[in-house]
Order: sequence, then structure tokens, then C-alpha cells
Amino acid sequence: MMEPMDTRARPGPVDEADALGERRGVEIRAAGLRHAYAAPEGRLDVLTGVDLDVPAGGYCALQGPSGAGKTTLLALIGGLEPLQAGTLQVGDVDLAGVGGDALAAYRRSTVGFVFQDFGLLETLTARENVELAATLDRAPPAERRRRADELLAAVGLSDRSRHRPAQLSGGERQRVAMARALMNRPRLLLADEPTGNLDEASAVGVIELLEELQRQWGFTLVLVTHNQALAVRAVQRLLLKAGKVVER
Ligand SMILES: Nc1ncnc2c1ncn2[C@@H]1O[C@H](COP(=O)(O)OP(=O)(O)O)[C@@H](O)[C@H]1O
Ligand SMILES: [Mg+2]
Repeated sequence: MMEPMDTRARPGPVDEADALGERRGVEIRAAGLRHAYAAPEGRLDVLTGVDLDVPAGGYCALQGPSGAGKTTLLALIGGLEPLQAGTLQVGDVDLAGVGGDALAAYRRSTVGFVFQDFGLLETLTARENVELAATLDRAPPAERRRRADELLAAVGLSDRSRHRPAQLSGGERQRVAMARALMNRPRLLLADEPTGNLDEASAVGVIELLEELQRQWGFTLVLVTHNQALAVRAVQRLLLKAGKVVER
């Protein structure tokens, strides 16, 4: 069953209640998850039976060769793709058979995404990019703006709020994307190679910030990365290989 959507204004992370460590993360449990694409050469079986369990508030690194299906798995967990076969439970939500509007409501109420290519709108300022994530929320504009500013401060970019993406460094762009991902108070943050386009120093900075935000918010964090030095920082390390997940 879907949780009812809660669109009331709640305290932000820098408010005392959250800062004191309320655990908001969701558990992820998958069993026998399978996914295939219809490709020009015929059916492509990408996930052939994924079982995994990431605890609520867990910190998981997902590794695997290019083409292994990491992005596909994140798309299923994040409700970007409907399930084809198997079971997937995220918090109270059973994702089997969920599609369309219900899947969109699940994404909005539960999931934040961070991508390798940042995914910012070039014509908008940093603040506008962050605010836009809450456009469907019922929060009044002044409240949205206050929250966007609070999140930009949390990622250390208060002095860049009126910059457009082209006026920001790669690391700064990814920080804006992280602020955007947190706008709807996600209980699960999915980061798909978030440091893939960054130099080593910026990459470490972005991951340290993700970890700090997780400590503050308690969301469950799944991080896809090819960077071994970053992967070992995670509490749980999963490897996607031949369509299945193994613990390392
Ligand atoms: N929409 C799609 N249609 C057909 N094939 C796809 C689609 N998306 C991904 N694939 C294929 O599925 C495989 C897994 O892709 P992906 O999940 O992106 O892997 P990874 O993120 O581990 O690199 C790849 O071989 C890719 O070419
Ligand atoms: Mg990928």
C-alpha cells in the first residue's frame, strides 16, 4: 500500500528536531528482481534475480562493470521504471504492481535522485533549480524559497544561489543537485555515479557532504560508484554481476 502523501510543511533538517537525529530512512528489500529490455537484437535480460536488503538509514555502495544494470536497479528502486518480476519493498511501499500516478507519488514522497550529469536546468539559477523540485508541493512560494535557501546553505552554496549552472564548477553543480534532491525530504537518496564527472578532490568533497547530510537526515543512501576509494567508505558494499547482486 502507498503511504498517504504528506505535503504539510514540516521542519527542515537544520531545525532542531531533525538535527537531533530522527531516523527517517526506509529499508529496501528485493527478492528475485528481474528486468529485461526489448533491444534491437532481441530481449536483453539485465537483472536476472536480484536479492538485496539495505537497512533503514543504511549506507550502501553498489558497484559493477559498465552495462551490469546498476542504473536499471536504481530506476526500479526509485520508481522510475515499473517492476517486471520479483518483489521490491521500500519502507511501507510494495512496488509490485505499482505504476503511473502511484509510482510518481512514491517518487515524490520518498526518493531523491542525484545523477552523474547533475541534471540541472541551464536557464535557471541554483536557487530556482532547487525550488523547482517542490513545484508540485502545496507549500507556498515563500516557504519553498526559504527551504531552497536553507538547503543551499546546507551544501555550502549560499553565496552561489543566483549563479546559473554554467557559472558553477562541477563540484558546485553537484552540490546544487544534492540540495535539489533533498527538497522533498526524501527517505531514500539514490546517487548514480555522482562523482563520475568530477576531479578527485571535488569527488571526495561531494561524498563527504552526502555522508554529512545523511548523518543529519538519516535517509537511506545508495551510491553507485566506480571509485574504489569512495566505495569502501560505505557500510555495505554490493556488487552487481551477471544480473545478480552479491555482498562484498
Ligand atoms: N531503455 C533501454 N533499452 C534497451 N536496453 C537498455 C535500456 N537501458 C539500458 N539498456 C541496456 O541494459 C544494460 C544495463 O544498463 P544500465 O542499467 O544502464 O547499466 P550500468 O548502469 O550498470 O552501466 C546495458 O547493456 C544497456 O545497454
Ligand atoms: Mg549506469
